[in-house]
Amino acid sequence: MNKQIFTYTPEGVTRRNFLKTGATAGTLLSTIPIERIALGASPGDTIKVALIGCGGRGSGAADQALSTGDSVKLVAAADVHPDRMEGSLKGLANRHKGKVEVSKENQFIGFDGYKKAIAQADLVILATPPGFRPMQFEEAVRQGKNVFMEKPVCVDAAGFRKVIAAAEEAKKKNLKVGVGLQRHHQLGYLETMKRLWDGQAGDIVAMRAYWNGNTPWVHPREALEKQHGRKLSEMEYQLRNWYYFVWLCGDHICEQHIHNLDVINWLKKGHPVKARGNGGCETRKGKDYGEIFDHHVVEFTYEDGSVCFSQCRHQLGCWNDVSEHAVGTKGIINIGSHTIRGIGNEASWRFKDEEKKGKNPYQQEHDDLFDAIRNNKPYNEAFYGAESSMTSVLGRMSTYSGKEISWDDAVKSTVSDTMVKDIDKVSFAEALQLDPPSKPGPDGMYQLPVPGKTKVI
Ligand SMILES: NC(=O)c1ccc[n+]([C@@H]2O[C@H](COP(=O)([O-])OP(=O)(O)OC[C@H]3O[C@@H](n4cnc5c(N)ncnc54)[C@H](O)[C@@H]3O)[C@@H](O)[C@H]2O)c1
Repeated sequence: MNKQIFTYTPEGVTRRNFLKTGATAGTLLSTIPIERIALGASPGDTIKVALIGCGGRGSGAADQALSTGDSVKLVAAADVHPDRMEGSLKGLANRHKGKVEVSKENQFIGFDGYKKAIAQADLVILATPPGFRPMQFEEAVRQGKNVFMEKPVCVDAAGFRKVIAAAEEAKKKNLKVGVGLQRHHQLGYLETMKRLWDGQAGDIVAMRAYWNGNTPWVHPREALEKQHGRKLSEMEYQLRNWYYFVWLCGDHICEQHIHNLDVINWLKKGHPVKARGNGGCETRKGKDYGEIFDHHVVEFTYEDGSVCFSQCRHQLGCWNDVSEHAVGTKGIINIGSHTIRGIGNEASWRFKDEEKKGKNPYQQEHDDLFDAIRNNKPYNEAFYGAESSMTSVLGRMSTYSGKEISWDDAVKSTVSDTMVKDIDKVSFAEALQLDPPSKPGPDGMYQLPVPGKTKVI
């Protein structure tokens, strides 16, 4: 099957056969003339890093970036909350003596801080809530900077189109882009994929992807107000409790389940062509759980007619499973456990070479990105990162609407969940008083999507 990469605009979708079977992004990009990037990226040069979004993952990613070698420095940071930035910089400075040189002038607070932080760096880490990612990625590429951005890279179709356009631009500018879908840097997954593409399990006819688990975290309004000793505006509350708001998080099918859906797209070398699903909020009810569902069940159909059955659930006291499986004509595959069980007389296989287990994939993805920057190797994960993010959005569209939704219709959608496009055009104080897209009713509860009624395209 051909891998399809598209040019996406709200007006239409232009399909181009971009990568032929068996070709990799690397082989394709190696045909593009490579200019020397003006980023001081010779093997020994110091690479200056800016961290945008100094929370848990941003701090982790900065730690991994600083662990790639000696010639790396953190020089700038941006966040909307001074408390988050302070804690992050302190922790990083303790861990990486002499590598964290973020002067007060290079610590930017506010919705437009990212632009100033990006200007200081050779490589930027984008790790805010994902609603801001397209805008920040676009700016980093505009400024000609290499990027590591966390998944998901968008939470709606408008963001997806922006990321694809910026990814094209990054390619032209020979910028290196990493995306935090770390399974692509995990040896067991890489070996399994290679075998599946080589046909060891025959033709893949069905897949399943699960992220069934518990609620990750919640920051109740009351606790936040107690902690900060003041009332929070609705905007600040949603920013601090971002997981439960679609414009910031995309729902957990985007924020978490993307990892599993991405593995299936990776296996299929493309994205699904349609989705239909069911979802709702059955047990996780309450004022602090915002407007997202606690379960989504989606059937994704791929171009060759094969189907991926997907489930993601945040409910306590139920069976949990985070995994990706596939069924082929010659074998049954547990992709995450890296095993193929042969059907009948077909050979089985298990990834078991302990010495080859490889590094922690969170570190490996940074090692690979920095190696590409230092040695000017083709590197752009933004395309598949965007397609996997949009696959999650497609799934959410199908569960929120209760309708079968095609990929082509989904990517053209102008029903945007995002309000971030103008948030950096006003002062920070004004922005914190803006009304987010959803507000609680008189009982403090938010309106959830209603399948059969909610419009998504
Ligand atoms: N690859 C993985 O396995 C993995 C794991 C965890 C998180 N993540 C991803 O990392 C991202 C961040 O998650 P987290 O757990 O670190 O969240 P977090 O809440 O700990 O951190 C987010 C940070 O961004 C800041 N922020 C919010 N809006 C901002 C803006 N407009 N500009 C600058 N800063 C802003 C917040 O104040 C906070 O410090 C998410 O996209 C998440 O999905 C990926």
